[in-house]
Amino acid sequence: MNDFFQKWELDPLKLPRHVGIIMDGNGRWATSRRLPRVAGHKKGVERVNEITEFAVKCGLHALTLYAFSDENWRRPEEEVSALMSLLRWYLKAERNKILDNNIRFRLIGDRGKLSSDILEMAVELENASAANDGLNLCIALSYGSRGEILRAVRKLVEKVNCGEIYLADIDEQYFAEHLDTHGLPEVDLVIRTSGEQRVSNFLLWQSAYAEYIFENTPWPDFSEVHFAESLKKYSVRERRFGRTPEQANPASAADSKSDRQRIHLKAVKATGQ
Ligand code: IPE
Ligand code: IPE
Ligand code: MG
Repeated sequence: MNDFFQKWELDPLKLPRHVGIIMDGNGRWATSRRLPRVAGHKKGVERVNEITEFAVKCGLHALTLYAFSDENWRRPEEEVSALMSLLRWYLKAERNKILDNNIRFRLIGDRGKLSSDILEMAVELENASAANDGLNLCIALSYGSRGEILRAVRKLVEKVNCGEIYLADIDEQYFAEHLDTHGLPEVDLVIRTSGEQRVSNFLLWQSAYAEYIFENTPWPDFSEVHFAESLKKYSVRERRFGRTPEQANPASAADSKSDRQRIHLKAVKATGQ
């Protein structure tokens, strides 16, 4: 194991492949400090860099960050435009670092609602990083999972209507290939910061079997220490995918069997039977 994994006490074999993060709590972080909400969003962008770098060092396959939901368009115009300006800044400032770190960048969400300059910058970065084979970094922007699913349904209906495919060709895998996240593995872990325990329309299809971790820390305070803790919590979860514990984890089933035998022998000894 290399120094990085030793330092953070992480087992590289027990890490998730795809992590989604609902970066929540920027507003409350700022308000509790008597600062304008946008100050929380600014601090939040710094965390994006820190957590992305940590994901790169961990060798994660994909990291999807929920930056702005489809529903967030309902916020006051001032806040929306401050968030979009921060995003412009992020795309400009981080472009080269993303490329240098072998990161493949992708935007997911309803592109039709984004202003053309943001979309141009994002598409340019998608293209420039397309050949990178390190971390897949997805920024969910103007993103809503229901909307994404509906867009996929429309694409499929169109294909059926024009005779490109049969209805029977649509299985789960084919359907997933029409989502914005096509080509990425399913989400293994969803982390939501700042104490809310809800999904808020994030990757509903892709996280059907994800583990959820809800952290009380607001996003602007969510450091690599918190991220490492969440990854550690994930590594001891038992994922069953519908199977029994014995099927899902034969090694631990064997352990508990030998534990049971030991307890039984102890009992036999104690009772002399
Ligand atoms: C998350 O923080 C960032 C976005 C949704 C854009 P919030 O702005 O939701 O912060 P709270 O939940 O109001 O504290
Ligand atoms: C979800 O956070 C979206 C992002 C983190 C970008 P919200 O703060 O908007 O979620 P709700 O509306 O409180 O559920
Ligand atoms: Mg919020």
